[in-house]
Amino acid sequence: MALGHWHHLNVSKNRVVVLEHSYHGDTIGTMSVGERGVFNKPYNPLLFSVESIPFPKRGSQQVTLDALESKCSKSQDIAAFIVEPLVLGAGGMLMYGTDILKAMKEICERYDVLFIADEVMTAWGRTGTMFACERAEVVPDIACYSKGITGGFIPLAVTMCHERIFKSHYSKDKSKTFFHSSSYTANPIACAVAAANLEMWLEGDVLSQVKRVAQMQEQKLHEMSQLECLVNLRRTGTINAMDVLVTDSGYLSEIGSQLYLKFQQSGILLRPLGNTIYVLPPYCMTQEDFNTVYDVIADAVLELTEWSDRFMRLSDTSDSMRLQALEVFERTVLARTATACECSPQCNVRQLPSDVPCCIGALALLPAV
Ligand SMILES: Cc1ncc(COP(=O)(O)O)c(C=O)c1O
Repeated sequence: MALGHWHHLNVSKNRVVVLEHSYHGDTIGTMSVGERGVFNKPYNPLLFSVESIPFPKRGSQQVTLDALESKCSKSQDIAAFIVEPLVLGAGGMLMYGTDILKAMKEICERYDVLFIADEVMTAWGRTGTMFACERAEVVPDIACYSKGITGGFIPLAVTMCHERIFKSHYSKDKSKTFFHSSSYTANPIACAVAAANLEMWLEGDVLSQVKRVAQMQEQKLHEMSQLECLVNLRRTGTINAMDVLVTDSGYLSEIGSQLYLKFQQSGILLRPLGNTIYVLPPYCMTQEDFNTVYDVIADAVLELTEWSDRFMRLSDTSDSMRLQALEVFERTVLARTATACECSPQCNVRQLPSDVPCCIGALALLPAV
């Protein structure tokens, strides 16, 4: 739509600027504007090239703004900047401030670059206001909404645009038509659900529920900050996220699937992004629900890291620390899960099950103490 806009105005702008670690979907187009990596490597030959700017990490936000300004000012062909406002979801629940979002929009305005807000995850109260852009007083040129638009119950997505983009496609010249849609465009059932949801937003007091959930999240974040094995605890609106301290951090971290399994066994549906645990609760959650969820998280994290925490400290090990770590290993892992090696009755080596964190794999080779 952004490219169509410039094309219909006879302006030669066709490149897109993106933010590092972004996720916008799984089509060739959306993968092209998302973070490149193991997830989309097979499709690399088909992905189009984009301009990427660094994520605005705390303390180096100006680097991001300077990079955006430099990309927009140096080349005349930048059509649009696409961004997940305030929270980058699949990229690791990375959060940044409203001032940065606002500054990014101002830069785009200065160079007539369209500002596309991907609010698929952040809209409908998630960040504390109905839309994340609202918090930064930003009005995007194009906005993408989904998930919460039907309360998450039925698939529906909406792409909205500023009137000037609508107008550039609105013509008696049929070649300017916006030709694109999908099989289920404006599906009546999905739209009815969205309309019912909107009614609740307009008539009910959803934002006070959002505020209540945000407060409970803040309280829980504070409680979780007492656990040494959790770092980077963060919240934006109703979204809490925290990273488990591991040696292989990232989306492919071993601990992700182990946590997922433990959460599932405890009746909680949480899907960690590698070693990042996030809680994105429905707004009807009660205090008891929150207590249950975070008790489960604390138990799982403690169980899976008690041993690896100590293992990490083995790098400056003394014999006594090493023995202590082995003792923890024996108590927390072997006693519960390992099976005896059956090579001979005298052998006292025990074998680890395959779901034990990889960082303790090295010690699996040691005889049990
Ligand atoms: C921010 C964001 N954008 C885009 C998408 C992709 O949406 P869809 O799966 O509907 O294409 C997602 C999905 O999780 C998302 O979180």
